[in-house]
Amino acid sequence: MKRVNAGIIGLGRAGFMHLQNLLTIPEINILQVSDVFIDNISDKLNDLGITNQTKDYHDLLNNPDIDTIFVFTSTDTHEEIVTACANAGKNIFCEKPLSMSLDEEASLDVLRAVKKANVKLQVGFNRRMDPQFRNIYENVRNGAIGDPQVVKITSRDPDLLPHDLIKRIGGLLFDFTMHDFDMARYMMNSNITEVYAKGGTLIDPTLKEINDIDTLALVLQFENGAYGLIDNSRRAVYGYDQRVEVFGSEGMLKAENVNNSTVELYNKNHESLKKPLPMFVQRYHDAYINEMKMFVDSLLNDKPVVASGKDVIMAQRAAIAAQKSIETGLPQKVDTDFSL
Ligand SMILES: NC(=O)c1ccc[n+]([C@@H]2O[C@H](COP(=O)([O-])OP(=O)(O)OC[C@H]3O[C@@H](n4cnc5c(N)ncnc54)[C@H](O)[C@@H]3O)[C@@H](O)[C@H]2O)c1
Repeated sequence: MKRVNAGIIGLGRAGFMHLQNLLTIPEINILQVSDVFIDNISDKLNDLGITNQTKDYHDLLNNPDIDTIFVFTSTDTHEEIVTACANAGKNIFCEKPLSMSLDEEASLDVLRAVKKANVKLQVGFNRRMDPQFRNIYENVRNGAIGDPQVVKITSRDPDLLPHDLIKRIGGLLFDFTMHDFDMARYMMNSNITEVYAKGGTLIDPTLKEINDIDTLALVLQFENGAYGLIDNSRRAVYGYDQRVEVFGSEGMLKAENVNNSTVELYNKNHESLKKPLPMFVQRYHDAYINEMKMFVDSLLNDKPVVASGKDVIMAQRAAIAAQKSIETGLPQKVDTDFSL
């Protein structure tokens, strides 16, 4: 069996979850892992049979047996680490986005390094590989609803994130809505050309101190003339809430929120026992595994990656436009030209 000889950098919230998923994929051979706080998780890693651990990610770059590196560090490190991986000739999987900078040149420089090194880069737009959303995507492509006219996305977190985490991984637009911009563009098979955003702090006013928001409403225009609507919240008191609908000339496709139970209770209180799943780890479990399997397939069989550097740039541009729209109160154009 052909295998990917891999290293992992960053084993926090997302990284440790990905590590556990990667261990279930036989084609992935994890040779070495790195985290600046590796001592805190060393015992857990040993329990998983991963003994080659280092604080310094450069050790992975210098390891000639490693051909592919998974980057799950905080977003503020992605530019540096992905560029270093490319320069070391390693294939890369990196969590989204590539940068939190409002100047996209930083991200384009990363992609230029990847192109120069002629290595593969897949970004962590896992929702593309969610079975429910993928089903909608395929049906839109099959023409099941005619010409798509409006995509509607509801995406709500169960609760606020700590401020220090937000500073490292980005605020609502760059960490969270990033997925929705990509999902909207993916579903409509068309670039976003304009964004009108209203956003503020309806839940936690102290977020203003770190220039972040917790509630967002967006109107999108696509290159093909279609429209999009996105609403985001950092706190849905009932749990993680993820829904997608695509409306077209011949019908509608809709994915409701995924619950952990199909049981419904009807009594005088009209209560339901359906509970939304608690967080992204549970809701997108299959999507996270699928994105890794597809990355492995693209590496071992030299196929295109399912979420590319161009895809992350397009989502970042929409996030930058949304930020400017909130600041100015005006719709903002999004450039669709892309060349490196
Ligand atoms: N796709 C998704 O659904 C999803 C979900 C959560 C987070 N994310 C993304 O994953 C990334 C990480 O987010 P998180 O919430 O896990 O953050 P986190 O802070 O919990 O984890 C980041 C880890 O990286 C380590 N790290 C930082 N710099 C390092 C370096 N130079 N060398 C080695 N290790 C280093 C930190 O010690 C920490 O353990 C972010 O880009 C975030 O946007 C994606």
